Amino acid sequence: MWVFLGLWGLQALAQEDCVQCHKKITPKQVKDWSVSKHAENDITCSACHGDKHHSKKDVAKVRLPDEHVCAECHEEQFNQFKRGKHNYGWTVLNALPVTHLEPDELMEGGKGCGGCHNMGIKSPAQRAEMHKRGYRYQNNSCDECHTRHTFSKKEALDPKACQQCHMGYDHPQWEMWSSSKHGTRWFVRARGHLPQNAPAPTCQDCHLPNGNHENRTAWGFLGVRLPLPQDKEWAQAQITILKALGVLNPLTGKPTARLELVKKLEMARLTKKDFDRERARVKKVCYQCHSQSYVDFQFQQADMYFKKIDLLMAQAINIVADLYKEGILHKRGQQPYPYPDFLYFMRTDYGAGFDQLDYIEQVLFEMYMKHRMRAYQAFFHVNPDYAYWYGWAMMVKDLGEIEELAAQMRANHHK
Ligand code: HEC
Ligand code: HEC
Ligand code: HEC
Ligand code: HEC
Ligand code: HEC
Ligand code: HEC
Ligand code: HEC
Ligand code: HEC
Repeated sequence: MWVFLGLWGLQALAQEDCVQCHKKITPKQVKDWSVSKHAENDITCSACHGDKHHSKKDVAKVRLPDEHVCAECHEEQFNQFKRGKHNYGWTVLNALPVTHLEPDELMEGGKGCGGCHNMGIKSPAQRAEMHKRGYRYQNNSCDECHTRHTFSKKEALDPKACQQCHMGYDHPQWEMWSSSKHGTRWFVRARGHLPQNAPAPTCQDCHLPNGNHENRTAWGFLGVRLPLPQDKEWAQAQITILKALGVLNPLTGKPTARLELVKKLEMARLTKKDFDRERARVKKVCYQCHSQSYVDFQFQQADMYFKKIDLLMAQAINIVADLYKEGILHKRGQQPYPYPDFLYFMRTDYGAGFDQLDYIEQVLFEMYMKHRMRAYQAFFHVNPDYAYWYGWAMMVKDLGEIEELAAQMRANHHK
């Protein structure tokens, strides 16, 4: 026994029965913890997990710590996180109608949407709901960037820490950044081919500057904003997109209950002041390395391009909306209006059943969620290929397909 424990030294022995027993039960986790700042500062297992469980028989008494436990010692980071956009991850997920049509394993189980949207403090009601469905893990978002049980600052500062979630289908920031000149410089520097102090901005430099855990951007994810852009044509296109998001009633143009949700969950900037504040915040980072004129020009261009993307998008939405007006498409399932609803994602059966999926609406959804996202996000992350081939060019292709499908549907309908 003494020989075995000797591996860890007398210090651990003196500490806690948790460490001793868990060196056998979950040795890799103990090892992880033993190199952490927590171990260095005598923050032992029981500081986070409580001291009610001591054997195989009473495992149920263990506390799986949520963010409030971290807050006991890291109030500053907790409060910043709470004010930021990451704190809405779980609530946003549960606010979408599609979530409740898809398998629980992909939500509370943390394998699909829930694997990324675990980001965000859960309310007691949300936690109770999870437990009721039989899910007991996924209580903490602080371990999403500094993973347990090392809880390392260095790890969180590595752009890789963001990759799991900010990648792929609708938000490939990882792919865009890592193959941009910004990312290239970072990788080249890491290999020692540039001086260690050569400038190379990371995700964290631009989005969590100075370790501030409060994150937010001007355009946000949905790429809509209020007040609407001053340009009339562009404003009209944004209105059409807001209808397809169900934020404006497609029939009357009046705000729906979803606008309240958008406000509450900060899914868009709702005043010019809020938009400008976020813009100024990120521009300040760019100014550290580029000239002011250079940076201002990049953002002006981005917004001009945004308008062009939105005109394409609105044109496609209107084609599908006309099919409803003409009685070729019909409202089904839980669909709120005879109009496409993007918040059902690929579930264009609107819950009516998989045999009622509608293909033209899936193409329309992909145009919004995959290709429009890539087109505008690439501009901000300085990626030429995503801006053109994966973004704009694919939107043009989608529009072509939607025109063709609509023509076929009309022809079949009038047969
Ligand atoms: C005598 C052995 C023993 C001691 C002492 C012990 N544990 Fe455990 N612990 C276990 C066993 C066995 C499990 C179940 C492992 C499994 O599910 O594979 C467990 C599970 C856990 C889990 C995971 C629970 C889950 O649902 O997955 C945590 C966290 C934990 N222990 C923390 C602690 C803490 C903190 C202490 C000290 C206060 C402690 N343990 C003391 C044996 C022990
Ligand atoms: C700084 C806080 C903290 C400390 C200290 C800590 N843990 Fe954890 N531990 C967590 C968090 C957070 C989770 C994830 C909870 C969840 O999924 O809801 C976790 C989960 C676990 C799990 C279950 C998940 C898994 O991957 O198996 C085990 C077992 C565990 N801890 C053991 C330990 C042991 C043993 C120690 C001491 C050597 C320890 N923990 C120290 C925060 C801590
Ligand atoms: C009982 C107090 C306590 C609790 C609870 C606690 N920590 Fe810590 N934490 C510390 C101390 C002390 C340090 C070392 C501070 C220092 O070096 O300045 C630390 C350091 C850290 C660091 C910096 C590590 C580094 O590499 O510099 C991170 C990240 C961290 N904690 C995250 C967490 C998270 C996440 C939780 C909750 C799961 C948590 N802590 C819970 C006390 C605590
Ligand atoms: C690979 C990780 C990942 C998966 C899987 C995922 N999301 Fe997301 N989601 C994100 C990230 C990251 C963002 C923020 C992206 C951005 O701003 O560019 C986001 C943003 C969102 C937003 C917008 C939030 C806002 O306030 O603007 C909603 C709504 C959303 N996701 C719902 C879902 C739903 C529903 C699913 C599953 C059907 C899902 N997500 C699957 C990572 C994911
Ligand atoms: C576990 C998954 C996950 C990880 C890891 C993650 N994020 Fe996120 N991120 C999300 C989700 C989900 C959202 C959307 C939350 C919402 O708005 O409801 C988001 C939103 C954001 C936003 C706000 C976008 C907006 O709408 O304004 C920024 C910026 C961001 N993340 C940056 C980062 C950076 C930088 C890192 C790495 C240091 C990172 N994220 C790590 C899941 C993650
Ligand atoms: C050089 C600075 C910079 C770097 C590096 C950077 N971003 Fe961004 N990011 C921006 C700007 C600028 C915006 C758009 C701000 C706006 O809406 O005006 C943005 C927007 C975002 C958004 C909101 C949706 C979007 O794409 O427009 C997310 C999420 C995000 N970034 C995550 C990341 C992640 C993750 C990384 C690293 C893989 C990263 N960013 C690297 C500057 C940067
Ligand atoms: C989106 C990724 C991300 C999430 C989520 C996250 N952190 Fe961090 N954290 C970071 C980064 C990046 C740093 C390093 C900041 C720096 O030094 O510039 C950091 C640093 C820290 C530090 C060390 C501060 C210092 O200066 O030594 C603590 C403590 C900490 N985080 C606690 C938390 C807590 C508590 C939570 C949950 C409420 C949390 N973090 C969630 C990215 C994250
Ligand atoms: C830490 C320093 C740093 C920051 C911060 C930074 N950049 Fe850069 N940026 C660079 C370097 C270095 C290059 C590579 C210059 C070259 O191509 O010779 C670069 C290149 C660029 C390029 C040209 C890419 C190409 O393919 O030629 C653009 C556009 C750009 N940055 C925009 C921005 C914007 C917008 C921001 C803020 C959101 C920003 N940068 C923040 C250092 C930075």
